[in-house]
Amino acid sequence: MDRIRIRGGNPIRGKIPIGGAKNAALPLMIACLLTDAPLRMTNVPELADIKTLIDLLVSHGVDVQVAPEPMANGCRTYTLRANTITSTTASYDLVRKMRASVLVLGPLLARFGQAKVSLPGGCAIGTRPVNLHLAGLRELGAEIEIEDGYILAKAPKGGLKGGTVRFPMISVGATEDLMMAAALTEADIVLENAACEPEIVDLAKLLSTMGASIEGAGSSRMVIRGRNQLMGANHSVVPDRIEAGTYAMAAAITGGSVELPGVGAELLGAVIEALVHAGVEVSLSREGVKVKADGRLRAVDVNTAPFPGFPTDMQAQMMALMATAEGTSIITETIFENRFMHVPELARMGADIAVKGNTAVVRGVKTLKGAPVMATDLRASVSLVLAGLHAQGETIVNRVYHLDRGYQALDQKLAACGADIERIAG
Ligand code: EPZ
Repeated sequence: MDRIRIRGGNPIRGKIPIGGAKNAALPLMIACLLTDAPLRMTNVPELADIKTLIDLLVSHGVDVQVAPEPMANGCRTYTLRANTITSTTASYDLVRKMRASVLVLGPLLARFGQAKVSLPGGCAIGTRPVNLHLAGLRELGAEIEIEDGYILAKAPKGGLKGGTVRFPMISVGATEDLMMAAALTEADIVLENAACEPEIVDLAKLLSTMGASIEGAGSSRMVIRGRNQLMGANHSVVPDRIEAGTYAMAAAITGGSVELPGVGAELLGAVIEALVHAGVEVSLSREGVKVKADGRLRAVDVNTAPFPGFPTDMQAQMMALMATAEGTSIITETIFENRFMHVPELARMGADIAVKGNTAVVRGVKTLKGAPVMATDLRASVSLVLAGLHAQGETIVNRVYHLDRGYQALDQKLAACGADIERIAG
């Protein structure tokens, strides 16, 4: 298994290319299942999760073509065509590898009237059930049973029907699943208490280009009027706000400065706010966002929340930053019940963090010390990389495969900005 070795202390300085958002690209590419016409998707990051998704799409019979030349930021262009679907089953092997695979449920059900999708099972950061997806689709008339670990879904004769789905809690995935099913249903479907993340807005943009009418994307109430046939489309994946936020924090934790081209401040609202409170300078350039830090940062309290709140996907990185700030910061995780797995690893590097329930009390120390550390999930791993960039001495981050799920060429991008970082194969 590959590892990453970091010798900390170098400020991160330079321009870092940001790829398309993993969490946007996954549902956007799954939307190819809604039509027999080709979907051309640019700005797709090269990540392990995208490879898993392609395996899944191919298992359904989708024709997947990738342009031979990468884009300037290293991302790829794919053409996906679902004109000969050979299977409406998503196997356990693929879904357990990547939970987002469950999003094929809505599109397959809307287009073929049936789908069999494995239940994803547990996850390192929480139990993450899919009950909201199922309840929403039932509201549109689907009959759903669970058998042998699989979701068996059937649409009524004549297809899914219109109606109002009010989510009891905000879920990005359930909103996306329902949006895709609704886009191919010729009726008015209202989604209330919907997620508002930029990835939702990007999916709405694509579904609109494909022919659906969608009002209110980016607000908590969406009105979707679908069509019984959707068109193909060309679409470019929205930039990855979590990748951008992570590099902003790499500059902040090392007293460096980075420019993040192509990233609008609206993608990073709550993250920029927290950084500014901590004493980081954030400005807008013609190309994107610029982040600059000098000296020790101040402690800031953070509560994770659905967009536009502080993203749970930036909580671990913020904690690494706060572990070195002046003062005590309270970090509360409200989205996932087990997303503090990075705490004991940061503690091995000298961080002073006490966890009680969903709250972490982080007492900043002047410097962290390098250590061998182990990661449990994607964002936890990258928080250890950030801590390693700051720490005195050598840090070895094990289980790099977690990072490969969500950060393209992380070591190369950081090394190009002055980090002493290398990937060790084996
Ligand atoms: C998406 O996961 C992201 N993944 C996650 O990114 C992100 O952390 C999360 O949204 C929150 O922003 C992708 O987009 C592929 P949810 P998702 O449904 O859709 C509960 C990363 O690091 N819930 O918004 O699965 C759930 O357990 C990842 O890139 C139910 O109870 O998240 C959680 O507590 C990790 N029942 C909360 O809702 C359901 O049916 C929010 O989950 C669905 C969700």
